[in-house]
Amino acid sequence: MTITTTSTKKYKILDPETGALDPRIYSDETIYREEMEKVFGRSWLLIGHESLVPNPGDFFHTYMGEEPVILTRDRQGGLNAMLNVCRHRGARLTRTDDGNCASFMCVYHGWTYGLDGALEYVPGEEQAYDNKLDKTKLGLRRARVETYAGLIFATWAPDAPSLEDFLGDARWYLDTEYKRRPAGFIAYGPQKWIQPVNWKTSVDNCSDWYHVPTTHSSASNALARVMGATRYTHEWNWTVPAKHAFVNGHQIAVFETTGHEAPAEEVERLGEFRANNVAASASSIFPNTVLGMRLAIPRGPLQTEFWHFALVPADATEEEKRVLRMEHASQNGAAGTFEADDIDNWRQVSNSGATFIGAQQEQLLNMGLGNAGPHDVYPGMVTDRFVSEHNQRAFYLRYQEFMNAGSWADISLEPQTAVYEGTTAEM
Ligand code: FES
Ligand SMILES: [Fe+2]
Repeated sequence: MTITTTSTKKYKILDPETGALDPRIYSDETIYREEMEKVFGRSWLLIGHESLVPNPGDFFHTYMGEEPVILTRDRQGGLNAMLNVCRHRGARLTRTDDGNCASFMCVYHGWTYGLDGALEYVPGEEQAYDNKLDKTKLGLRRARVETYAGLIFATWAPDAPSLEDFLGDARWYLDTEYKRRPAGFIAYGPQKWIQPVNWKTSVDNCSDWYHVPTTHSSASNALARVMGATRYTHEWNWTVPAKHAFVNGHQIAVFETTGHEAPAEEVERLGEFRANNVAASASSIFPNTVLGMRLAIPRGPLQTEFWHFALVPADATEEEKRVLRMEHASQNGAAGTFEADDIDNWRQVSNSGATFIGAQQEQLLNMGLGNAGPHDVYPGMVTDRFVSEHNQRAFYLRYQEFMNAGSWADISLEPQTAVYEGTTAEM
């Protein structure tokens, strides 16, 4: 079976010269259906973390766009991602979030699949089917799976590039978050909740520090007063030693930690410069991984299910792990202080193009036009300041490229030029 493209419609979503954005991309049902095929049907997608399925027989139920997917660890230790839809009549095989099992038996008629999706047993194979079923051709639909630093990605597209090429030089930055600690991370959760917003609003917002002093004013003030945390003001935004970098539609907030002396083991892993001077944060990986390890899973044009994982160093003490999990939940969990602030904005933005006149009013993403480019030290496209709308433009241009592409042959990849130092240089 091949993935066929049903529409050759060409979209003009964003004008890169003026930053004008068509607001119908959030609420239009036809556009949404096409996203499921052209973005989620072909991109690499984050589906989980190795710590969620550490042992043979472990499974974790996840999603690729709207497609229900079972992620498993098989007896050989391999990872598998399979469509959770029985090949007989389409019933779902597992309806639980996670667990450990030897095989998946469909509760409708009993067809049974192995941990790698192979069809192993059919009731009445001889008596009912006269031994005419070719079980080797009736395994579960499998996605390609690759990992980076414990993060598990999958794609339905046979012609997609490797995950390494897909991430490109974004990895140079992401390493400083995901490869810094020798023991790796444990993913706790996810906390899940549904909001009446389009999934894209949360991705483009990921690097929107312009909204922070206004939208998060009270949360930031409270944290500053009670816990001595940084107070996010406009002044802080204009002066903080930080940049944003963009590669292949991925975005990384990069804090320049000059003067920091990283522990020797981190220097060994990342090399001196990255260990001491580069701290990636609040990254988004195209299309729907946001703020580190969080998924914005589409559930219709005006509905998104958020999955927030707390990624905690595996070698932290139990007390440290508890504190980090609480911190995640209190700020960006379902009832987190920052989270609650954001949702209503995203809801308004999502609905802005849903009315007749509203659809005619373009949104404006022109902040910092012309103020990003290649950099001597930092790979990718790099801003000369912390606050801009480069991420929004980079994300929507990449989205437009996917929406207008007939196949991966029409989708560009930026050349990899980053130089890696340290023992974790390999993918
Ligand atoms: S639908 Fe699964 S066995 Fe019939
Ligand atoms: Fe926010």
